[in-house]
Amino acid sequence: MGKYDEIFKRSIHDPEGFWSEAAENIDWYKKWDKVLDDSNKPFYRWFSGGEMNTCYNAVDRHVRDGRGEQTAIIYDSPVTDQIQKISYKELLSHVSKCAGALKSLGVSKGDTVIIYMPMVPQAAVAMLACARLGAVHSVVFGGFAPHELAIRIDDSKPKVIITASGAIEGKKLLEYMPMVNKAIELADHKPGNCLVLQRSIVKAELMEGRDHDWDDIVPAAEPVDCEPVQATDPLYILYTSGTTGKPKGIVRDNGGHAVALRWSLENIYDVKPGDVFWSASDVGWVVGHSYIVYAPLLTGCTTVFFEGKPVGTPDPGAFWRVISEHDVKVLFTAPTAFRAIKRDDPDGEYLKKYDISGFKYLFLAGERLDPDTYHWACKLLDRPVIDHWWQTETGWPITANPMGIEKFPIKPGSSTKPVPGFDVQILDADGKQVEAGKEGLVAVKLPLPPGTLPTLWQAEQRFLEAYINVLPGYYFTSDGGYIDEDGYVFVMGRVDDVINVAGHRLSTGEMEEIVATHKDVAECAVFGVEDELKGQLPVGLVVLKTGIERKEDELKQEIVKMIREEIGAIASLKQAAIVQRLPKTRSGKILRGTMRKMADSQKYSIPSTIDDPAILDEIKEALNRMGYAQ
Ligand code: COA
Ligand code: AMP
Repeated sequence: MGKYDEIFKRSIHDPEGFWSEAAENIDWYKKWDKVLDDSNKPFYRWFSGGEMNTCYNAVDRHVRDGRGEQTAIIYDSPVTDQIQKISYKELLSHVSKCAGALKSLGVSKGDTVIIYMPMVPQAAVAMLACARLGAVHSVVFGGFAPHELAIRIDDSKPKVIITASGAIEGKKLLEYMPMVNKAIELADHKPGNCLVLQRSIVKAELMEGRDHDWDDIVPAAEPVDCEPVQATDPLYILYTSGTTGKPKGIVRDNGGHAVALRWSLENIYDVKPGDVFWSASDVGWVVGHSYIVYAPLLTGCTTVFFEGKPVGTPDPGAFWRVISEHDVKVLFTAPTAFRAIKRDDPDGEYLKKYDISGFKYLFLAGERLDPDTYHWACKLLDRPVIDHWWQTETGWPITANPMGIEKFPIKPGSSTKPVPGFDVQILDADGKQVEAGKEGLVAVKLPLPPGTLPTLWQAEQRFLEAYINVLPGYYFTSDGGYIDEDGYVFVMGRVDDVINVAGHRLSTGEMEEIVATHKDVAECAVFGVEDELKGQLPVGLVVLKTGIERKEDELKQEIVKMIREEIGAIASLKQAAIVQRLPKTRSGKILRGTMRKMADSQKYSIPSTIDDPAILDEIKEALNRMGYAQ
């Protein structure tokens, strides 16, 4: 039996033994009573009764153990032309003072705090300061519009919002404070205080009494020590797109999360304490939570905060410069970033300028890795290019080629094998396992390993309905795919209304809800079509209210504006067309899947349940007008 098989089998057959050993790498104030608490199935809890603090494990412990002078965070910001290095000792000072400042604003254990910040290291300081106090942070991606921020304010009811005056996004200057003000105006819940990091690129106007300048109160604050919390207490809430306009508040606990992430960095990414690990994502996404902040810091690594883009800041050599300048061992990013580099520098000319000899692996996730991009990256880098698959819900990889355990031959299109702890199976709609090579629903047999979602924030019923009740005994991933005869997992895409645009997870259901509020729209369908750069892009088809006549182009502009204003520019909805009717089944279900296949010029069969097949001709014409289904 190979090393992977042995470890994997143990993780499934003796999860308590397996994870209690992994937990030795974490410092506990009090050891757990039960490794896997299954007293309230299907709400499994890990390390119940245990007490620890995530911030202590990510910061204080390393200073205690002699890593105080080591760089914890490298802030590399081509958009503001600066590079800063923060040692673990300095990080400890910043975090304990930030915790002190939050305490002075009334934040204590169990309170929630929203963090709406760009890619500056103060975002990590704020997250860790919350963890230090036992407060629950909810980071909101800076690309979300005020309406999205307001939804998250109302759901998580933060005591404080931590934000910055602005950011440079590519080449655009963005002001954050007007968006925060608008969100607070839209929300029913009114947070009492905002902590605002004033950046030299733009100054925010502060509201007397509510807003506090970071530089006035954080450096002067009384440092605060770590507050012991239960392993099962929440560390954070991260909202992610579901199938409706109401995002799902994924809850992450403290103990299981620390154990799993610490384990994952060495075993999946082959990264050891002291190594430089770079995840080129954003703190607002799960990749940012797990692999910019928590996993590298829990492991005692150096993590890179990159405030830039793969291209245009200033050129497609940005990634190679950062790898070379900071001696990055492992880079993790989304395939879109590599498609953008490939588009701007197809022959890899920029790479030739840099020495990247210390670079060992490229890990890609967040969306399907298309074989073209995979082969291009392999040829260019001459190093392992690892596709791995996971979700906001799981917080760390479900399938991967585990570089720290055993290096498997790569099959393009597959994210390789289930990660220890995840019993991945392919089921049909009745919950029966399908044979090797046959496509079905990707599910994970319960219990999920530590670090995965225990529930949704104050929405247990929704947790059960979305993930547990669909396939009893399993966690339903909402992805379709298959496992081949060698045990390799191929994830083919979502089976629900979630799409991935440039690695950003978005809900077409939510976009439909927004478009439907347009005064002239009777009905609409939004679905994802293939895009060479961003993987997928949303497009909309709308039916006008009776008696209304509109020019298609004008209406399209209004719809595009609505989506930008309500969700944000990242939604990237740029195309919409008017049709007389939408294709539906006789029971009234809109045939989005059929339209998507038509748009992508894929083979499709006309469902036998279709109400009126003649409608499809008009749909094809509308798709043609938008440049699809050619
Ligand atoms: N704040 C505000 N706006 C943002 C934003 C942020 N953090 N991120 C993106 N946007 C805006 C962009 O400015 C753009 O606005 P525009 O329509 O006015 O031009 C829009 O949202 C779409 O952005 P994006 O999808 O990023 O497209 P792009 O053309 O600006 O850049 C890439 C293309 C490929 C360079 C970019 O998508 C990229 O770097 N992708 C990597 C994705 C990634 O790291 N994902 C993380 C998951 S692991
Ligand atoms: P997110 O929650 O934003 O991480 O998005 C999770 C979804 O992205 C998954 O359910 C998949 O549909 C998709 N995804 C992530 N990684 C991969 C991958 N390596 N291959 C295919 N799809 C992926």
